[in-house]
Amino acid sequence: MTGQKIDGIAVANSVKDRVRAAVAELKKEGIEPCLATVLVGDDQASASYVTSKQKDCAEVGIATKDHRLPQTFSQKELESLIDLLNNDNTVHGILVQLPLPKQLDEFGVITKISPIKDVDGLTPYNMGLLASGRALLKPCTPSGIMELFDFYKIDISGKHVVIINRSNLVGKPLYHLMLEKNATVTTCHSKTRDLKSLCLGADIVVSAVGNRSRFTLTQDMVKEGAVVIDVGTSRLDGKLAGDVDYDNVIKKASYATPVPGGVGPMTRAMLLKNTVTATSISKGIGTQR
Ligand code: GUN
Repeated sequence: MTGQKIDGIAVANSVKDRVRAAVAELKKEGIEPCLATVLVGDDQASASYVTSKQKDCAEVGIATKDHRLPQTFSQKELESLIDLLNNDNTVHGILVQLPLPKQLDEFGVITKISPIKDVDGLTPYNMGLLASGRALLKPCTPSGIMELFDFYKIDISGKHVVIINRSNLVGKPLYHLMLEKNATVTTCHSKTRDLKSLCLGADIVVSAVGNRSRFTLTQDMVKEGAVVIDVGTSRLDGKLAGDVDYDNVIKKASYATPVPGGVGPMTRAMLLKNTVTATSISKGIGTQR
């Protein structure tokens, strides 16, 4: 039996259609949703991610303000910029592209962002709400994954989910979102013993390692009928590759996401959704969770 490919591009397009309609409604009320992007340094990959995010915004009618700062930018200067953006009523969302250059304290910067403009859902306040099951602004990659489960009507309740990642951007928030849907969740990482047997026991495996030369999730590591979500991105023979040996895993799984075209487009779409949510929050308009 061959499983079904989860089409992240199609689901992301449906999210974008909803966002476009919500933006049009806000504009009718004279509100122009706006995302400020902040990029520090000259990392080429980060720069192209930010450019893509700005293009996505333009596609659905969200305005952007672009802040590109030198590699040597100081903590104080960056925190002052965040203050300015927090106090700018024309800005509804603030995205600080990560990682930041080494001299900067990432946690200190994120903590400065006003929680109501925190479209990454990474401030301690929003992470606390997430752990309490009450967040409105949730990190984009995990909420994009949850959207895929919703779209394909894949039931999570009572399932054993193995997440191979413990970062603030992916593993930790996904743990809470899955738990909220009544999954039994195991978080794995570089010190986890016998990863293969944990994966073989899982109904759902979410892999977010991002280093294909060090780790590949292979067919012998997943059980028959499992759902496999690939969050990893790395280069393999010069091409974009995920963590998962998709061509073989899909022969055993019930569903799997490809790379590219799986989780990536969802992450981008959820940023747009969060920007609309942040705009609505700032205007005191009720939002759905
Ligand atoms: N770097 C890699 N992924 C992300 C993300 O989702 N948000 C931000 N701000 N930076 C990132």
